[in-house]
Amino acid sequence: MAFTQADYQDMQGLLRFGYGALTEACFLLLRIEDAAAAGLWLEGAPLATAEVQIPPPAKALQLAFTCEGLRKLRVAEETVNGFSAEFLSGMVGDENRSRRLGDIGESAPQHWQWGGPGNVPDMVAMIYARPGQLEAWKLSLEDGLKASGFVLLQCLPTTDMGGVEPFGFVDGVSQPQLDWEGRRSTSGDKLTYENLCALGEFVLGYPNEYGKNTGRPLISKQQAADLPDAEDAAGHADLGRNGTYMVLRQLEQDVRGFWRFADAQTNSDEAARLDLAEKMVGRRITGDPLLHARAQAITVGGTSADDARLNDFTYDEDRDGTMSPMGAHVRRANPRNSDFSAGTHGLWSKLVHMTGFGRTYTREDIIASTRFHRLLRRGREYGSKLTAEQRLEQAPPDAVVTGLQFACLNANIARQFEFVQNAWLMGSKFDGLNDESDPLLGNREQVAGCPVDKFSVPSAHGVRKQIQNVPRFITVRGGAYFFLPGVRALRYIARAARI
Ligand code: HEM
Repeated sequence: MAFTQADYQDMQGLLRFGYGALTEACFLLLRIEDAAAAGLWLEGAPLATAEVQIPPPAKALQLAFTCEGLRKLRVAEETVNGFSAEFLSGMVGDENRSRRLGDIGESAPQHWQWGGPGNVPDMVAMIYARPGQLEAWKLSLEDGLKASGFVLLQCLPTTDMGGVEPFGFVDGVSQPQLDWEGRRSTSGDKLTYENLCALGEFVLGYPNEYGKNTGRPLISKQQAADLPDAEDAAGHADLGRNGTYMVLRQLEQDVRGFWRFADAQTNSDEAARLDLAEKMVGRRITGDPLLHARAQAITVGGTSADDARLNDFTYDEDRDGTMSPMGAHVRRANPRNSDFSAGTHGLWSKLVHMTGFGRTYTREDIIASTRFHRLLRRGREYGSKLTAEQRLEQAPPDAVVTGLQFACLNANIARQFEFVQNAWLMGSKFDGLNDESDPLLGNREQVAGCPVDKFSVPSAHGVRKQIQNVPRFITVRGGAYFFLPGVRALRYIARAARI
């Protein structure tokens, strides 16, 4: 499929920017009570777009809707049904989905503070501002929203922790690079890991890694003349184009639990404690890769020197996990593999691989190709940041809860977020491992009677240390699937509400 220029003016800024300089942020969860009044407000909403502004904006507003919200805004049922099945069902719409996402036990939706059954918001207004400028803006926005048919359900706060997540690790280090100019060909098998990803993996209405457009609602052009044209369906307008899906999950982190566990496992040896924590994450606390010493050059496509230092590596160099354990969080979340297993170079090698000859590692073929499962993370921390000393103390009774307002953007929730969360993070069988799940995110609930609370740490001497009884460090407190529309799509939705 031919690539047309990305339309930044019609995209919400979050697709292109993390708004790192806008260090204050909060996410307003809203219910729509009066569709017509809400539509009027939405028509004039001052959305920040993906266009570069000079000087950069001092504040930014982004809007996204759940399926319930679109229905309340009177988007036609046949149009709503054009969204993906998982968006229509919602994060909590099906018990099997909850189980697959690991949302069971303490993390089950019935315990959630928001997003659980009967408690799904219609819309989220994400607001970002420069230091000192959020509060006044938030209050005036809230007043405007309340006077326009919205009810504020909850405000998800965030805290600027200076680029570090609550456990203390530098966050936001690795992100997929979006192919805004359509430089990369997606055709044919990829023998090497690349960080440059087809735009359609993150923005609807553009070709994805399969060279096709991901499904989204198309409307006849006569009914929606103001929407962008659908490139793959003549005579149709594209409600999805320049929009995306956003997964929002409130993940509470037991920071003291994490560090006290690492401390107990290492007899309070400071260096060993840090080493174990870094092995569980899969990066140094500074953000540096564990494979740094033997990093090999890969095709990352136009990245800065700093980014290359932090991200120019694959796990081909570390197939036994002696540098970075196979089960470490970042290795599970992005195994950095290609369409073939490690060591497959050139046509002959590919043929040998495809026929199954020359197989030396029993783990080969177990991990799906990474390029179809990337996530653009846009989360923010919340709660209070603990010092290294506080992290090792017993929690005082009035301890402030802390965690991550995890947000990620993707064009296909099932193939991207749900796959990563289910198969790679929660999966008890990953890359030859058994009885373990992600050391940070695992809920430690047994799967078919088998424990999943182990963590294997291979060592250079060929001995694999398996840590037992890893506790739960993260509890899900809320979540929902949203559609983050393009600007013209938002105006279309707003007008639907007013008719
Ligand atoms: C509270 C929960 C979480 C914590 C504390 C956490 C922490 C981290 C840290 C410290 C990094 C390394 C720095 C970086 O590359 O940005 C990272 C990377 C990453 N995380 Fe998480 N994370 C959490 C939840 C999740 C979830 C729910 C997902 C996906 C469903 C996820 C997916 C990723 C991905 C894709 C990467 C980048 C891996 C790479 O490209 O090398 N994380 N995370």
